[in-house]
Amino acid sequence: MPQLVVTTREGEEKTIDAQAGFNVMEAIRDAGIDELLALCGGCCSCATCHVYVDPAFADRLAPMGEDENDLLDSSDHRQDTSRLSCQIVINEDVDGLRVTIAPED
Ligand code: FES
Repeated sequence: MPQLVVTTREGEEKTIDAQAGFNVMEAIRDAGIDELLALCGGCCSCATCHVYVDPAFADRLAPMGEDENDLLDSSDHRQDTSRLSCQIVINEDVDGLRVTIAPED
């Protein structure tokens, strides 16, 4: 099973299991980390699942869609490595992916 390394807003690093076919937001939530509001449930319409991804994994992730890009523009905390975690589907390619939960907007 792929694993993710998640850094919380408090700077705590946690390694969690992530089931293929689910998305990173779901994996973080299911691991009991409750910092992502994920208000829209993964429909790419709220931006409350904002994370920063390790640049080393950038070329292993599916490219960002237009909706995701527009939503991230609404965040005061957008960085070059910003993604919406509900839009990153878990597969073996992302095993070991490191993400940091972005500050709340
Ligand atoms: S959970 Fe709403 S955009 Fe990701």
